[in-house]
Amino acid sequence: MKTISHPTETARRNEQNNPLVIGVLGAKGGAGATTIAVNLSSAFGQAGSTTLLDANLQQPDAALILAREPRFSLLDLLTRAPEIEQQVFEACCCEFPGQPHSRLISPPLDGHAGAAANLSMVANCLPQIQHYSNRWIVDLPRNLDRHLVNMLDKCTILTLVMEANLISLAAARRWFSIFSDLGYCDEAIVVILNRVGKKLKYMEEQVLTALAGRTVVKIPDASALTEECAIAGKPVVIKYPRDGFSKAVRELVQSIESNTPSSGQQSLQEKIKNRVLDSVSTDGKYGKHRSQYQIQNQIQHHGTEIGTKLRRTGFINNRVVI
Ligand SMILES: Nc1ncnc2c1ncn2[C@@H]1O[C@H](COP(=O)(O)OP(=O)(O)OP(=O)(O)O)[C@@H](O)[C@H]1O
Ligand SMILES: [Mg+2]
Repeated sequence: MKTISHPTETARRNEQNNPLVIGVLGAKGGAGATTIAVNLSSAFGQAGSTTLLDANLQQPDAALILAREPRFSLLDLLTRAPEIEQQVFEACCCEFPGQPHSRLISPPLDGHAGAAANLSMVANCLPQIQHYSNRWIVDLPRNLDRHLVNMLDKCTILTLVMEANLISLAAARRWFSIFSDLGYCDEAIVVILNRVGKKLKYMEEQVLTALAGRTVVKIPDASALTEECAIAGKPVVIKYPRDGFSKAVRELVQSIESNTPSSGQQSLQEKIKNRVLDSVSTDGKYGKHRSQYQIQNQIQHHGTEIGTKLRRTGFINNRVVI
């Protein structure tokens, strides 16, 4: 069995200043994003403090899978922004069953946060609290709007959860195209092929061929276990650490860590900004005294025009998505 390597002191200090923020996005509904996010948060907890942020304001499922009911929720945290003390932060966290280094921040379970807040508010709050944890896992909603883009921009790395079937592949391709519009580089995207090992073996092979050149981690099908563990309120990696599902989740942890150079724990937004600054300093287009406005403009234009519009107004493919 592979073990998770523990970070060195220097790496730990880097993490505290600039923690790893892993976005977990389902390519389509029910692909297994929340299940992966919960188990990933538990596996990452073995290497240091980890917070699972459930950003599904209207449909918070992580707390259900962990059988938690937040006394104070993400909404309480948002009302305290921008200055959030550690005690307040901790009061808004729920414990993680069987993993003392992991915790959960969830919206209220009745879903009313969907009307009371938006994802941009969560994205703006994250920099105020992210130093309280070494790693963040963000379970993301799928509706594409500027609020989601604000949240994606804050992530260090994105994981896209899909299954080995035609509809999932079409959905994943749409997301790849959106990521490219937004200027995110492929190295910051890890594809999770969930529920592999089912009957349609040839379909799996076809999908893997279609994903050639990308980082792909396979997670086996484990229907009985995931359901049983959700009822018990425990992550599979805690209840069944030797199962193939748990091993694959630990491999996912390693894949994410190896895809993130210790110097490179920058958000996707910062990565774009640095690429822009690099290209600006090579061609010398703007000289030394560029205004912040010019830099910002370059950041917005580093993706395609659609990405720029989406960042600014939520207008994509001639359709307003607010
Ligand atoms: N590897 C797996 N093997 C078997 N079942 C799985 C696996 N991963 C997830 N599931 C099951 O799939 C169902 C949907 O999972 P989950 O809620 O995590 O998906 P989701 O992508 O978050 O859905 P939503 O789009 O509603 O947010 C659940 O019943 C879960 O137990
Ligand atoms: Mg979900």
